[in-house]
Amino acid sequence: MNTIDLENASKQEIQTHIQKLEKIRSDFVSNISHELRTPLTVMIGYLESLAQDTALEKPYQNIMQTMYTHAQRMQHIVEDLLHLSAIEAQEYQEKAFEMVDMHALIKDYLASITPMIEKKQHKIVLNLSSHQKIFGDKKQLVSLIQNLITNAIAYTPEAGTISVSYQEDGNALSFSVEDTGIGIAKEHLARITERFYRIDKHRSRDSGGTGLGLAIIKHIMIVHHGQLKIHSTLGKGSCFRCVFKKEKTIQTDKKMLGS
Ligand SMILES: Nc1ncnc2c1ncn2[C@@H]1O[C@H](COP(=O)(O)OP(=O)(O)OP(=O)(O)O)[C@@H](O)[C@H]1O
Ligand SMILES: [Mg+2]
Repeated sequence: MNTIDLENASKQEIQTHIQKLEKIRSDFVSNISHELRTPLTVMIGYLESLAQDTALEKPYQNIMQTMYTHAQRMQHIVEDLLHLSAIEAQEYQEKAFEMVDMHALIKDYLASITPMIEKKQHKIVLNLSSHQKIFGDKKQLVSLIQNLITNAIAYTPEAGTISVSYQEDGNALSFSVEDTGIGIAKEHLARITERFYRIDKHRSRDSGGTGLGLAIIKHIMIVHHGQLKIHSTLGKGSCFRCVFKKEKTIQTDKKMLGS
């Protein structure tokens, strides 16, 4: 039953009910995204061929190209929603966890996007002083690195500076991405990690964003028992810091080594 007598329910009953509704919502999004995947793949296949079909008159070819671009955008959203559902479902599981070399992942990712960085003439400042591995899900940690760095690039004007660091900080290991970009106004900060939340919808649409990246990051940090901290000043820049509990990572490291 999906209703509850709020007047007479205990705090515990309300909590359980909220969790049940949350699960229904999450399953619903996951099922719909899954069902949309196949028809979209078929449409994209045909639209890609039609967009390149020189037998079509130019105006029709342009229409096909526009439809192809938008269908690809829909596919991107569906993939992000599926990714988010998968992380949510895994929230309290550590099945896919292994010791992950964050230092190497950050370096590899930055090397792979050199053309993107050069295009905007961004200056990259690196401070990867830690080599400590993190007990986590490699795919998710790759996604975390990609999302934060691509955001910094997207929301920082040409010739800006992006500082990427991975360091040990007392009892914590922290991965942070700081930029000298457009920044985020105070009133948006509390909502910025909600699904589909974008500040400048037009700008995000131009850059192909869907507003799911930070929601994904927030869940990845929950899965890894860590925290996402955001500091930003409008017009000056932002700093996104992912703080992992060092103690937990090192304990697990010892367990894996059998000591
Ligand atoms: N480094 C940043 N500087 C300024 N604004 C940012 C930064 N990172 C994120 N934002 C703001 O937060 C919003 C949400 O970011 P998020 O990564 O979730 O979505 P997105 O980048 O729009 O799309 P995508 O789902 O493709 O990542 C962005 O639309 C942007 O307005
Ligand atoms: Mg993003």
